[in-house]
Amino acid sequence: MDPLSPLNLVLPLAILLSSLLAPPAIAMPSIEEQAGALIAWKATLQTHEPLQSWDRKAWPCHSWRGIGCGARQGKLVITKISLRGMRLRGSLEVLNFSALTMLTSVDLSHNKLTGRIPWSEVGNLAILEDLRLGINKLSSSISNSIGNLAKLSVLILWGNQLSGHIPNNLGNLTKLSLLDLCHNQLSGHIPQELGYLVNLKGLRLCDNMLSGSIPNNLENLTKLTVLSLYKNQLSGHIPQELGYLVNLKNLSLYSNNLIGLIPSSLGNLSKLSHLFLWHNQLSGHISQELGKLVNLENLDLSKNMLIGSIPNSLGNLTKLSNLLLWSNKLSGHIPKELGNLVNLNNLSLADNNLTGSIP
Ligand SMILES: *[C@@H]1O[C@H](CO)[C@@H](O)[C@H](O)[C@H]1NC(C)=O
Ligand SMILES: *[C@@H]1O[C@H](CO)[C@@H](O)[C@H](O)[C@H]1NC(C)=O
Ligand SMILES: *[C@@H]1O[C@H](CO)[C@@H](O)[C@H](O)[C@H]1NC(C)=O
Ligand SMILES: *[C@@H]1O[C@H](CO)[C@@H](O)[C@H](O)[C@H]1NC(C)=O
Ligand SMILES: *[C@@H]1O[C@H](CO)[C@@H](O)[C@H](O)[C@H]1NC(C)=O
Ligand SMILES: *[C@@H]1O[C@H](CO)[C@@H](O)[C@H](O)[C@H]1NC(C)=O
Ligand SMILES: *[C@@H]1O[C@H](CO)[C@@H](O)[C@H](O)[C@H]1NC(C)=O
Ligand SMILES: *[C@@H]1O[C@H](CO)[C@@H](O)[C@H](O)[C@H]1NC(C)=O
Repeated sequence: MDPLSPLNLVLPLAILLSSLLAPPAIAMPSIEEQAGALIAWKATLQTHEPLQSWDRKAWPCHSWRGIGCGARQGKLVITKISLRGMRLRGSLEVLNFSALTMLTSVDLSHNKLTGRIPWSEVGNLAILEDLRLGINKLSSSISNSIGNLAKLSVLILWGNQLSGHIPNNLGNLTKLSLLDLCHNQLSGHIPQELGYLVNLKGLRLCDNMLSGSIPNNLENLTKLTVLSLYKNQLSGHIPQELGYLVNLKNLSLYSNNLIGLIPSSLGNLSKLSHLFLWHNQLSGHISQELGKLVNLENLDLSKNMLIGSIPNSLGNLTKLSNLLLWSNKLSGHIPKELGNLVNLNNLSLADNNLTGSIP
């Protein structure tokens, strides 16, 4: 007997009752419709092998690869799609997410999916918490309707071909803990609204074509451990407010057009282990305060226009493995305190105007 058939009988009654009682919270398609949307998508894919278990004769919740279920409103529904690295080839656009409104987690990373992300439907997945589509070939822009995904805590879209702007509406997703849009073709400014995402631990927008300045209102993102904005066209100053992000471990702003001083407030980031500011147009002196970053392993300030002497406080950074200051306008003596850097593997001071002897 077809295990789905009893649901066929229950469903019309359920719809009738819910329409008579109260307006339904979320329209809930039957498990047959949910499974049907997946089967229809499978039929459009050029690779079927990994999804052999997706068979109408089998109950999706027990035996379909990468499918997880949960109980919602007293019924078993599909809540998870987890198909990372299955070499799926085809379009994501034709997956009917309108039939899968109870999804909480979707992981289709590391496949060969093309086409747009069907935002008009994805934007209605009201209880989605986790969306991972990294390393595919998805194109087009990120729609404003992303702002409807109020429960979203992980959004990973890196390594696609997304273009257009980063929507301001992302600032509505206050549960977000990881936002990764690196390695796409996004342009325009970084929205100030990202400053509302106080639960962010990782903010990665690297390797795009973003312009304008780094928002100066990120001071409340105090849970942030990784801020990666490298390889963009960002201009203006490094905001001194970044000094409030006391949990930062990685700060990567290299290969942009940043100008002005390295803010001394960065000296407050006592957990920082990687500080990459190379290949910008930073000027002025290297602040003595950087000597407070005792957990630093990598400090790369190369290819800027820094002047003055190398602060002797850098000799306190005994965990440093890479100290790269080449191609600046540093002058004066190499401080003898650098001799304390017992973990140093790589020291490059080339292309400066240093004098005296090597300590
Ligand atoms: C997608 O699913 C919804 C809900 O089950 C259904 O109403 C709609 O007709 C489906 N769309 C397509 C193109 O199959
Ligand atoms: C989402 O964000 C936009 C832009 O910041 C705002 O105009 C809109 O009112 C927000 N929507 C909700 C539902 O909070
Ligand atoms: C940061 O938090 C403070 C205190 O809650 C608040 O007054 C301020 O407006 C917030 N700043 C931003 C950019 O959200
Ligand atoms: C950094 O810490 C010093 C005290 O050590 C404090 O005076 C200063 O306001 C802090 N700056 C920032 C940006 O947090
Ligand atoms: C931090 O940066 C280091 C050095 O580039 C890298 O190896 C590490 O994976 C980064 N950590 C995170 C969480 O991005
Ligand atoms: C660095 O260490 C020396 C002692 O070696 C200490 O006198 C100095 O205050 C330290 N500097 C900073 C900036 O922490
Ligand atoms: C040292 O740094 C230089 C300059 O960034 C780099 O080319 C080289 O690979 C590094 N060497 C090691 C051993 O990390
Ligand atoms: C290098 O430093 C010396 C003083 O130590 C100065 O006379 C000279 O102009 C500097 N050269 C450059 C290219 O900055």
